[in-house]
Parts: sequence; C-alpha cells; structure tokens
Amino acid sequence: MDKLLVHGGKKLQGTVHISGSKNASLPILAATLLTGETCIIRRVPDVSDTNYMIQILTALGAEVERSSGTVRITAGTISHDAPYEIVRKMRASICIMGPLVARLHKASVSLPGGCVIGDRPVDLHLKGLEALGATIDMEGGNMHIEAKDGLHGQECDLRGKHGPTVLGTDNMMMAAVLAKGKTVIESAACEPEVVDLANFLNKMGAKITGAGTRRIEIEGVEKLHGVDYTVIPDRIEAGTFMVAAAMAGCPEKGVTLNRVCQEDLKPSTAKLIEAGHSVEFNAKGTSCTVKPGQNPKGVNIVTAPFPGFPTDMQAQFTSLLAVTPGISVVEDTIFPQRFMHCAEMSRMGANIKVDNGTAVIQGGKKLSGAPVMASDLRASAALVLSGLCSEGTTEINRLYHIDRGYENIDDKLVMLGADIERVRE
Ligand code: EPZ
Repeated sequence: MDKLLVHGGKKLQGTVHISGSKNASLPILAATLLTGETCIIRRVPDVSDTNYMIQILTALGAEVERSSGTVRITAGTISHDAPYEIVRKMRASICIMGPLVARLHKASVSLPGGCVIGDRPVDLHLKGLEALGATIDMEGGNMHIEAKDGLHGQECDLRGKHGPTVLGTDNMMMAAVLAKGKTVIESAACEPEVVDLANFLNKMGAKITGAGTRRIEIEGVEKLHGVDYTVIPDRIEAGTFMVAAAMAGCPEKGVTLNRVCQEDLKPSTAKLIEAGHSVEFNAKGTSCTVKPGQNPKGVNIVTAPFPGFPTDMQAQFTSLLAVTPGISVVEDTIFPQRFMHCAEMSRMGANIKVDNGTAVIQGGKKLSGAPVMASDLRASAALVLSGLCSEGTTEINRLYHIDRGYENIDDKLVMLGADIERVRE
C-alpha cells in the first residue's frame, strides 16, 4: 500500500504530456468483444482500471498483448460469464454487458456493489437492453441477460433522475450495433468519450449517427471487423494539471500541457478563466499554457452532463477554491454525495461546509500539511493539489485510488518541479 508525501510550496513550470483517456479506453476495450478479428488500441493509459479491463477480457478468453500504451486484442472464442473476482474491482466492468449480449446473445455479469461517490444504480443499462428484447434474471448477485433469437432495434429514452447515463448509453450503443433493424437512443449522454466509442464502432463497420447529441441512431449490421484505433486525450487528467498550474504554477512561465483537446476542455477552461487565471491554447487547440492569475476570485459551480461542468473535475476545483479569496458554492447534481475530499481538506485548514449536495467554501485560507485519507479517484487528486499549496508535508494514504485513473501523476508533477515522494508502506 503506497502513500504519497507532498512537500508543499514549490512552484510548477515546464511541460506535461497528457495521457490517453481512461474513460474512453474502458468501453473501447470492452467493444473489442464485438468481433473475433484483431483490434489494436493505441494510447491506452497504464492505470489499474485499464489493467482490470484487460484481465476481464483475458478471463473471457480473448488473447491480449500489451506493450506500453498499445493493446492488441483478439476475442476469437469467448465466454459469456464474467468472473466476479475481477468485475467487483471496477464498476466500469458493466460495459462488457452490451457487447456480450450483442455477440453471444447472453451475458452473466455481477451486479456492481456500493460506491463511495454515491448511489450508482444500473436500472438504465437494463432498461436499454430490455428495450432491445433481452430478458434479465437476477440471481446470486449476478445479472443473467439473454436474447434467444438476438436483439431487435428499438427506440428508448435513457433519461434518469440525474440526467443521461454515460456507460448506459455506451452499453446500449454496443448492443444495438449487431441488432436487427434500427435503434434510437433518446436522452443519450454526449460526453466526448461516448463520441470516441461511436467513432471506434463506426470504424469497425457499425452504422451510428448522432453521437455527441441527445439522439443517437444505430442501424444494426451483420458483422464487425478488426481495426487500429487511437483513443482521445484524457480531458480529466488535463483538467487536473490545469488546476495544479492555477494553484501552484510559476506566474511568469506557467505550465504547458501537450496532447490535449481544446473542445473537450471547454467547461474547465471557462471556469478557470472566470476565477481569474490565464489559459492560452495553440492554434490547433492541441496544447495550452496555464498561468495563475494575479487576482484570483471565488466562483460558483454546478456540475452537469457534458457540455456542462464535469463532476469528475468538481473535487479538483474545490481544492482551488479553498485557497482562493472569497466565497464559492459548489453543487454536484450528478453525485450529490461526492464530497469526501472536503473533510480531509478541512483537516488541512480549509473552511468548507457541505450540506445536501452543496459545498460552501470560505476561500483564501492558508493550508498546512497533514496525514489525509484518499476515498476515491478524483478526491485523491484533489488532495495532491491541496498538498502542493500547503505549508509542510501532506501524507496521502490509500494511494491505490489515484493509480486507478492517473498514469504516473507523481512523476509528472516532479518533472514540473513539485517535491513529491512515493513511499511504499
Ligand atoms: C461515467 O460513469 C464515468 N466513468 C464517471 O467517471 C463519471 O463520473 C460519470 O460517467 C458521470 O460523468 C467512466 O466513464 C468509466 P453515469 P457512469 O451512468 O457511466 C445515475 C471517474 O472519476 N444512473 O453517467 O457510471 C447515476 O447514479 C469516474 O473517472 C442511474 O440512475 O455514470 C448518476 O447519478 C467516476 N441509473 C448519473 O446517473 C443508471 O442505470 C450519471 O451516472 C445509471 C446511472
């Protein structure tokens, strides 16, 4: 069990290269189950979550080779029964359901358990598959999904209590590409990762239109073929480094991020500029330089489905606003309980009151280093950011959370001048 020691106060400068997207890689890796031909996926980040997905594909019978960011998968003969031991480690395993039912007309996947960031039911995933004609039995904590004579195209509205579902949209899209006839997904998620999956599927020979809008249409096809594909940059990793630069960057030089996508970063960029920091992109929008503002100010944030402000950036901005003079209000409408990081930041001297899905932040407090507990992926990144701006040393425990979704975040920060040590316990 590793922990991180963040010795605060160092100014960041230089260039960081952003990895491929974890949240695009996971459904794309699962989608390779839709064909028996070889798929090559490039720029897959080396993080625990993509390794779990590779373990699941291997356990289902696929041949998988990995060399740094390139993963080669041949799902020749596969099983429909996913092992609980691996599936339980990662909620996103659920996105193997659509491809397995589409290709094998059946799937057995364990029901995901609880999650610290909040209530995460899978009713919309099942609603989508049932709309395509699948039957679903729950038994022994497992979901047994079957479509004896295959899936049939259908129209289905995937809107839930908290809006659209990202992986639910992915699962229905992956199920529908081999279904008979036309499927229409209403209230679809528009996240860039959903669009990346649709582009990957279309390259395999699928017929998907409307990805990136609330209405996706899919014309089922007989068969899909193997492809060579490169995933999009990770907009949440990029957003995290942009906030690091605003919090601890060298005012003159700032921090340059390479391999980003300006369009996907619009919500985070807009909030950083509103808070008084400078963000400049190159002409192609593939790299940007972030400098801390002279007069930063508090801002209010309400998370929402893309193109709204991402819930996966909420914790990092909470860190920023805790050290920014003024009052800020942060509301998370997608995961109202996703504020575990606030209690840990309060241990460092931040003034944050959380109630009913909203954090009221009295910013501008001087933080001091302390031992803190990481509770989930983005909360742990937020604690690293707070540590960069604290006096003394912050000791972040349960580091496995951060390794789920950030590729070598400590090495990348040290390259920018941070003083961070990874300590094996
Ligand atoms: C994806 O999770 C991301 N994970 C999450 O990122 C991200 O926070 C989330 O989308 C929202 O943007 C991956 O892509 C692997 P949802 P997903 O289904 O698809 C409710 C990170 O930090 N809901 O869009 O599981 C749900 O409870 C992770 O990288 C239902 O009610 O999220 C939530 O309130 C954390 N019924 C809302 O919808 C359902 O069947 C959105 O969840 C499904 C979801």
